[in-house]
Amino acid sequence: MNRFKFLKEGLRNIKTVGTVTRSSRYLCDKMINHSRIHKARYIMELGAGDGVLTRRILDRMPDNCKLVSFEINEKFVDILNSIQDDRLIVVGDSAENIEKHLIKHNIDELDIVYSALPFTVFPKELAKSIVELAKKKLRFEGEYLQIHYSLIAKKMYDDIFQNVQVYFQPINIPPAFVLKSLKGE
Ligand SMILES: C[S@@+](CC[C@H](N)C(=O)[O-])C[C@H]1O[C@@H](n2cnc3c(N)ncnc32)[C@H](O)[C@@H]1O
Repeated sequence: MNRFKFLKEGLRNIKTVGTVTRSSRYLCDKMINHSRIHKARYIMELGAGDGVLTRRILDRMPDNCKLVSFEINEKFVDILNSIQDDRLIVVGDSAENIEKHLIKHNIDELDIVYSALPFTVFPKELAKSIVELAKKKLRFEGEYLQIHYSLIAKKMYDDIFQNVQVYFQPINIPPAFVLKSLKGE
């Protein structure tokens, strides 16, 4: 999908997509560079969109690693399904249903969660329950990385993880933050 089509899809579904531009290469790399992707065995991605981050994760993750990517927009799901990579599992369902799908794919514990879910347009309780669910599925050393365009929601991660690190990436429209939290500490 090109940038213009993403913009149209974002405008049509602004309440669920949360933006009209997909993440820049620099923002995707910021997420990945702050994680231990080279050691990962199971990775989950929430809000995969048209796969801009998905493809970069696949480029960088080990050959024996599995990536489970959640997305609710049907057009985006079709694009994700066109990615030819046996390591990728595309789930066309809401991140609220993480647990059910991980059980279905025999995944007990995750090493990394990358999320671009637009939590600032979600009801607060829903956002909190998805992050709590993701934390529950992380192994003790697991990492949760989230894209945000402001730090308004940072308190939620402070409350759930108590150890949030913030990284800024100006080369993105709009400039963005990566919030990284560790399960164990
Ligand atoms: C800000 S876009 C990010 C797209 C892409 N990952 C990127 O970084 O450019 C957020 C994505 O989350 C998806 N989304 C929104 N609510 C969701 C939910 N409950 N479960 C799964 N995906 C969801 C939207 O359809 C959209 O594609």
